[in-house]
Amino acid sequence: MPARGGAPSIVRMPGEILVTREIPAVGVDLLASAGLSFDVNPHDRPMTREELIQAVVGRRGVISLVHDRIDGALLDAAGSELRIIANMAVGYDNIDLAAAAERKVFITNTPDVLTETTADLAFALILATARRVVEGDRLVRGGRWAGWGPLEMLGGDVHGATLGILGAGRIGSAVARRAGGFGMTVLYSDPLASAEMERLGGRRVELDRLLAESDFLSIHVSLSEATHHLIGARELARMKPTACLVNTARGPVIDEAALVEALRRGRPGCAGLDVYEREPSLATGLTDLDNVVLLPHLGSASEATRGSMARLAAENVIAALAGNRPPNLVHPNIRGKA
Ligand code: DGY
Repeated sequence: MPARGGAPSIVRMPGEILVTREIPAVGVDLLASAGLSFDVNPHDRPMTREELIQAVVGRRGVISLVHDRIDGALLDAAGSELRIIANMAVGYDNIDLAAAAERKVFITNTPDVLTETTADLAFALILATARRVVEGDRLVRGGRWAGWGPLEMLGGDVHGATLGILGAGRIGSAVARRAGGFGMTVLYSDPLASAEMERLGGRRVELDRLLAESDFLSIHVSLSEATHHLIGARELARMKPTACLVNTARGPVIDEAALVEALRRGRPGCAGLDVYEREPSLATGLTDLDNVVLLPHLGSASEATRGSMARLAAENVIAALAGNRPPNLVHPNIRGKA
């Protein structure tokens, strides 16, 4: 682990920056080449709340990850020298923005660099759920395959189907672009009309219509109070029995217990999930279902993209500690410290 000083315990290390878990080397190499000292969590797991609270004390910057809860108590523990929390993710629902603003701490994220990679994974889930890819793999591996059969493992077609996109931001639009190659009809639902979606042939509809008409419904909204459990029992019951629900955004957008019930009843017919309400725990019963594909929050997990995210996070820290406005502020009104 490239932590300067090589001390064994993160709590006793004195670097200016805390990196809450090992990230691609490009990120820490950039910090080092900017002459900044840093410490990386030496454990291959998220830091516990207690470890995090102790390890932030006296830091000027933190590179955090989606599993780190950053709130007022943590910012207070860090102390008055703290300039920036650079979240190595596009989402930042793990951070209390009001608490950061109050303490004049910059909060940054890593937008754009993971758009295409996450859209690829959403499409992988669309294909995997429709064509029962994982179920088929289990059948063959389990030695239960008796050979080709005319009625065996029939799925749904992706080409020509209707794709519903909930959330017309960057990733939603990138998924819509892929849908064009499969000749799909694209519907989307978003509080605002999206010029990019319209350019791609997408039609904006109300949520109820999106639910009722989509063969695949892919979620691309960020998590907020407004989107928490946006998809619950009522919404699931409006989907077609043949439809698949795909989520590569944030788990709590779906009421996961309600989804288990809905999948048991076969409406929607299937789901592909990359994110969960209480990661890494799953709702009871989810793993018993054959009509769901479960991935471990892999949306941005390509070598190149994780490298770009690490680079961006480091660039934001370097800018903030040099007294400049970091390029990827999520909350442009935060003034930062002089
Ligand atoms: C993000 O960037 O928000 C992802 O969920 C982390 O890969």
